[in-house]
Amino acid sequence: MAGARGAFGSRFGFILAAAGSAVGLGNIWGFPTKVGQGGGALFVLIYLICVVMICAPIMIAELAVGRRSGKDPVGAFTAIKPGSSWWLAGALGVMAGVGILSFYSVIAGWTIGYIYFAASGALTGDSAATSAFFGEFVGNAPLSIGLTFVVLAITAGTLMGGVKQGIERMTKTLMPMLLVLMVLLVVRAVTLPGAGAGLSYYLNPDFSKLSFRMFNTALGQAFFSLSLGMGAMITYGSYLAKSENMTRAAMWVVLVDTLVALMAGFIIFPAGFTLAGFDPTSTGPGLIFVVLPQLFATIPGGQLVGVAFFVMLTMAAITSTISLLEVPTAHLIDSHGWNRRKAVLVLAGLTFLLAVPSALSQGASPFWSNLPGVGMDFLSLMAIVWNDFALPIGGFLLAIFVGHVWRVDQALDELNQGGTMPAAGVWSFLIQWVCPAAIGLIIFFTFKDLLS
Ligand code: TRP
Repeated sequence: MAGARGAFGSRFGFILAAAGSAVGLGNIWGFPTKVGQGGGALFVLIYLICVVMICAPIMIAELAVGRRSGKDPVGAFTAIKPGSSWWLAGALGVMAGVGILSFYSVIAGWTIGYIYFAASGALTGDSAATSAFFGEFVGNAPLSIGLTFVVLAITAGTLMGGVKQGIERMTKTLMPMLLVLMVLLVVRAVTLPGAGAGLSYYLNPDFSKLSFRMFNTALGQAFFSLSLGMGAMITYGSYLAKSENMTRAAMWVVLVDTLVALMAGFIIFPAGFTLAGFDPTSTGPGLIFVVLPQLFATIPGGQLVGVAFFVMLTMAAITSTISLLEVPTAHLIDSHGWNRRKAVLVLAGLTFLLAVPSALSQGASPFWSNLPGVGMDFLSLMAIVWNDFALPIGGFLLAIFVGHVWRVDQALDELNQGGTMPAAGVWSFLIQWVCPAAIGLIIFFTFKDLLS
């Protein structure tokens, strides 16, 4: 049976696939943007606390649920607690996979476009020029929709190859290249003349800026960055052999993801601060597409560095879109008996339809760019619904489920296969009490924020 579903070929393959899922636009684009908006080094510190105390335990819990059940998220909750309503928590994750992918693939499409622009030398000029260029590009409907289609086609093509020949093979190729490119770019950025100002902004916390909101943003970012809260790790865990030490594998994934996010900061802040008039708080989404091109236009060899950067970003994005689509795909295969090919094609088509309004929402269509009565564009709305609500709610439910329904001794029984789990007592405490309390508080304040 396990053979029919597919499985990872090796521990290394699993770690790269899971790290590939985790490392994405969230790390390279989202993390530095939030550090910029959230006040620099202090945000970094809070982010790290969230990763260690809340996210790492959840990652381990998701993997345990996945491997114990050997099923997609809906099937996993049902297998462990038959006859209950817990499968709804899995269903939320399956929907989140399509929802997140629908806007993620639009942004991933932009990164592909920017490989071409960086290579052709189209990205020149000051901040007004690069920002006008970006605005015009994302407002071009056929181009945006076409690039979104390309992203979804690559993703679907990979998934049709199955777990080992598709997901594992693709991530084994892309992840090492990505890490090498990343290190080269960090070296280039921190050795720029004037890099010191950015480093000090990034590394010296200003405690006077501490706010509750920062925890809120940091936890949301950590969830997204580590691909938690929608059963992506349940699904990947279901393809993992019983002989593997899951705690160790989870630690590797957390470590790689966090290092990549931190490295992205080491590229963007030193680089940004060397530009005249750089303001980290007001850059927003343009940080990558508007600020960095100005840098590439001025440094020696900048064109090549620019191409390398956007190639790297695209690789990171593709290994993530793969995992987003794999969750609903696994669901249709496991719980509804579809074959992989049909599941992938139907889901990619559905996601594409949902992606079109997001692609049109960045200027191409006045309606989707400013939804009447909502006060924001469709892409931002999707991001808020799925990232700020669905993922934390999914993570909260998972922590309650593992800590109090399935129960930690059962989970530990699974986690101890493939080697005794280190620090099992600490994990048990965090998953039962710290995770639900912290995530619950944050969801509460997010709702309160929204309603006020
Ligand atoms: N973690 C990815 C990023 O940082 C995005 C992602 C992929 C994701 N799969 C996920 C987020 C599953 C949440 C859940 O870009």
